[in-house]
Amino acid sequence: MTVTDNRALRDAFGRFATGVTVLTTREGDGTPRGFTANSFSSVSLDPPLVLVCIGDNAHSGPAFYAAPHFAVNILGAAQKDAAMLFASRSEEKFDKAKWHAGTHGLPLLPGALATLICARHDLVRAGDHVILIGEVLESAIGDGPALGYHQGEFITI
Ligand SMILES: Cc1cc2nc3c(=O)[nH]c(=O)nc-3n(C[C@H](O)[C@H](O)[C@H](O)COP(=O)(O)O)c2cc1C
Repeated sequence: MTVTDNRALRDAFGRFATGVTVLTTREGDGTPRGFTANSFSSVSLDPPLVLVCIGDNAHSGPAFYAAPHFAVNILGAAQKDAAMLFASRSEEKFDKAKWHAGTHGLPLLPGALATLICARHDLVRAGDHVILIGEVLESAIGDGPALGYHQGEFITI
Protein backbone atom coordinates (compact mmCIF):
# COMPACT_ATOMS: atom_id res chain seq x y z
CA MET A 1 0.00 0.00 0.00
CA THR A 2 1.13 3.55 -0.66
CA VAL A 3 -0.15 6.49 1.36
CA THR A 4 -1.85 7.78 -1.78
CA ASP A 5 -4.00 4.66 -1.94
CA ASN A 6 -7.17 6.11 -0.43
CA ARG A 7 -9.12 2.84 -0.21
CA ALA A 8 -6.27 1.02 1.55
CA LEU A 9 -5.88 3.90 3.99
CA ARG A 10 -9.63 3.94 4.76
CA ASP A 11 -9.50 0.16 5.31
CA ALA A 12 -6.55 0.53 7.69
CA PHE A 13 -8.22 3.39 9.63
CA GLY A 14 -11.41 1.30 9.77
CA ARG A 15 -9.62 -1.48 11.70
CA PHE A 16 -9.62 0.92 14.66
CA ALA A 17 -12.88 0.26 16.55
CA THR A 18 -14.49 3.37 17.96
CA GLY A 19 -17.57 4.60 19.74
CA VAL A 20 -20.05 6.78 17.88
CA THR A 21 -21.12 10.33 18.72
CA VAL A 22 -23.53 12.89 17.34
CA LEU A 23 -22.19 16.43 17.58
CA THR A 24 -24.80 19.17 17.79
CA THR A 25 -24.82 22.94 17.82
CA ARG A 26 -26.90 25.94 16.70
CA GLU A 27 -26.30 28.40 13.92
CA GLY A 28 -26.44 32.10 14.76
CA ASP A 29 -30.13 32.21 13.80
CA GLY A 30 -30.88 29.27 16.11
CA THR A 31 -31.09 26.57 13.43
CA PRO A 32 -29.99 23.25 14.98
CA ARG A 33 -27.13 21.46 13.19
CA GLY A 34 -25.61 18.06 13.84
CA PHE A 35 -23.65 15.20 12.35
CA THR A 36 -22.37 11.75 13.27
CA ALA A 37 -18.69 11.54 14.22
CA ASN A 38 -16.45 8.69 15.35
CA SER A 39 -13.27 10.81 15.41
CA PHE A 40 -14.17 12.01 18.91
CA SER A 41 -11.46 11.65 21.54
CA SER A 42 -10.93 12.76 25.08
CA VAL A 43 -7.78 14.91 25.26
CA SER A 44 -7.15 16.35 28.73
CA LEU A 45 -8.59 16.17 32.24
CA ASP A 46 -7.18 19.47 33.52
CA PRO A 47 -8.40 21.49 31.76
CA PRO A 48 -11.12 19.12 30.51
CA LEU A 49 -10.68 18.98 26.73
CA VAL A 50 -12.08 16.83 23.96
CA LEU A 51 -11.62 16.86 20.18
CA VAL A 52 -13.43 15.86 17.04
CA CYS A 53 -12.22 16.04 13.43
CA ILE A 54 -14.65 17.68 11.00
CA GLY A 55 -14.25 16.89 7.31
CA ASP A 56 -14.34 19.70 4.76
CA ASN A 57 -17.29 17.94 3.12
CA ALA A 58 -19.51 18.26 6.22
CA HIS A 59 -22.10 20.93 5.46
CA SER A 60 -22.49 21.71 9.14
CA GLY A 61 -18.75 22.37 9.60
CA PRO A 62 -18.99 26.18 9.37
CA ALA A 63 -21.76 26.19 11.99
CA PHE A 64 -19.42 24.39 14.42
CA TYR A 65 -16.47 26.67 13.62
CA ALA A 66 -18.60 29.74 14.41
CA ALA A 67 -20.63 28.53 17.39
CA PRO A 68 -19.40 29.31 20.90
CA HIS A 69 -20.79 26.01 22.21
CA PHE A 70 -21.46 22.49 21.00
CA ALA A 71 -22.67 19.21 22.52
CA VAL A 72 -21.27 15.70 22.18
CA ASN A 73 -23.90 12.95 22.40
CA ILE A 74 -22.12 9.62 23.00
CA LEU A 75 -24.49 7.05 21.55
CA GLY A 76 -25.85 3.90 23.13
CA ALA A 77 -26.35 0.64 21.23
CA ALA A 78 -30.05 1.43 20.70
CA GLN A 79 -29.26 4.66 18.84
CA LYS A 80 -28.10 3.24 15.51
CA ASP A 81 -31.02 4.97 13.74
CA ALA A 82 -29.88 8.35 15.09
CA ALA A 83 -26.30 7.60 14.01
CA MET A 84 -27.47 6.87 10.45
CA LEU A 85 -29.82 9.86 10.33
CA PHE A 86 -27.12 12.29 11.46
CA ALA A 87 -24.62 10.74 9.02
CA SER A 88 -26.96 11.77 6.19
CA ARG A 89 -27.20 15.09 4.40
CA SER A 90 -30.93 15.34 5.17
CA GLU A 91 -32.23 18.86 5.76
CA GLU A 92 -34.77 17.35 8.15
CA LYS A 93 -32.50 15.64 10.66
CA PHE A 94 -34.01 17.55 13.57
CA ASP A 95 -37.58 16.98 12.33
CA LYS A 96 -37.00 13.23 12.26
CA ALA A 97 -34.88 12.80 15.43
CA LYS A 98 -36.00 12.86 19.05
CA TRP A 99 -34.19 15.69 20.82
CA HIS A 100 -34.63 18.44 23.35
CA ALA A 101 -32.83 21.72 24.01
CA GLY A 102 -30.30 21.61 26.85
CA THR A 103 -27.82 24.15 28.21
CA HIS A 104 -27.21 27.02 25.75
CA GLY A 105 -30.13 25.61 23.74
CA LEU A 106 -27.91 22.81 22.46
CA PRO A 107 -29.82 19.89 20.91
CA LEU A 108 -29.48 16.77 23.09
CA LEU A 109 -30.49 13.24 22.09
CA PRO A 110 -32.41 11.31 24.78
CA GLY A 111 -30.90 7.93 25.61
CA ALA A 112 -27.31 8.97 24.97
CA LEU A 113 -24.75 7.14 27.12
CA ALA A 114 -23.11 10.44 27.96
CA THR A 115 -23.61 14.07 27.05
CA LEU A 116 -20.86 16.68 27.11
CA ILE A 117 -21.60 20.40 26.88
CA CYS A 118 -18.54 22.11 25.45
CA ALA A 119 -17.23 25.59 24.76
CA ARG A 120 -15.20 25.99 21.57
CA HIS A 121 -11.57 26.09 22.71
CA ASP A 122 -9.57 25.91 19.48
CA LEU A 123 -9.73 25.04 15.80
CA VAL A 124 -6.72 23.42 14.14
CA ARG A 125 -6.53 22.87 10.38
CA ALA A 126 -5.25 19.34 9.64
CA GLY A 127 -5.28 18.26 6.00
CA ASP A 128 -8.84 17.92 4.73
CA HIS A 129 -10.27 18.13 8.27
CA VAL A 130 -10.46 20.74 11.01
CA ILE A 131 -9.79 19.55 14.55
CA LEU A 132 -12.40 21.13 16.81
CA ILE A 133 -11.18 21.19 20.41
CA GLY A 134 -13.76 21.82 23.10
CA GLU A 135 -13.58 22.56 26.80
CA VAL A 136 -16.12 20.46 28.69
CA LEU A 137 -18.40 22.66 30.80
CA GLU A 138 -20.92 20.01 31.88
CA SER A 139 -21.26 16.26 31.61
CA ALA A 140 -24.06 13.77 32.23
CA ILE A 141 -24.05 9.99 31.95
CA GLY A 142 -26.48 7.16 31.30
CA ASP A 143 -26.03 3.39 31.36
CA GLY A 144 -26.06 0.48 28.94
CA PRO A 145 -24.11 -0.93 26.02
CA ALA A 146 -22.38 1.47 23.65
CA LEU A 147 -22.80 1.88 19.92
CA GLY A 148 -19.53 1.18 18.15
CA TYR A 149 -18.17 1.36 14.62
CA HIS A 150 -15.69 -1.08 13.09
CA GLN A 151 -14.77 -1.80 9.47
CA GLY A 152 -17.71 0.23 8.21
CA GLU A 153 -20.31 -1.51 10.39
CA PHE A 154 -22.16 -0.49 13.51
CA ILE A 155 -21.49 -2.85 16.40
CA THR A 156 -22.59 -3.17 20.02
CA ILE A 157 -19.89 -2.74 22.64
C1 LIG B 1 -19.89 6.08 11.88
C2 LIG B 1 -19.63 7.39 11.19
C3 LIG B 1 -18.64 8.23 11.69
C4 LIG B 1 -18.38 9.46 11.08
N1 LIG B 1 -17.41 10.26 11.61
C5 LIG B 1 -17.18 11.46 11.06
C6 LIG B 1 -16.21 12.33 11.64
O1 LIG B 1 -15.57 12.02 12.64
N2 LIG B 1 -16.01 13.54 11.06
C7 LIG B 1 -16.70 13.93 9.94
O2 LIG B 1 -16.49 15.05 9.46
N3 LIG B 1 -17.64 13.13 9.37
C8 LIG B 1 -17.88 11.92 9.92
N4 LIG B 1 -18.83 11.10 9.38
C9 LIG B 1 -19.55 11.57 8.19
C10 LIG B 1 -20.64 12.60 8.53
O3 LIG B 1 -21.51 12.14 9.52
C11 LIG B 1 -21.42 12.91 7.23
O4 LIG B 1 -20.53 13.49 6.29
C12 LIG B 1 -22.61 13.84 7.44
O5 LIG B 1 -23.37 13.84 6.25
C13 LIG B 1 -22.23 15.25 7.74
O6 LIG B 1 -23.46 15.96 7.89
P1 LIG B 1 -23.60 17.45 7.37
O7 LIG B 1 -23.17 17.44 5.91
O8 LIG B 1 -25.05 17.79 7.56
O9 LIG B 1 -22.69 18.27 8.20
C14 LIG B 1 -19.11 9.87 9.95
C15 LIG B 1 -20.10 9.01 9.43
C16 LIG B 1 -20.36 7.79 10.06
C17 LIG B 1 -21.43 6.88 9.51
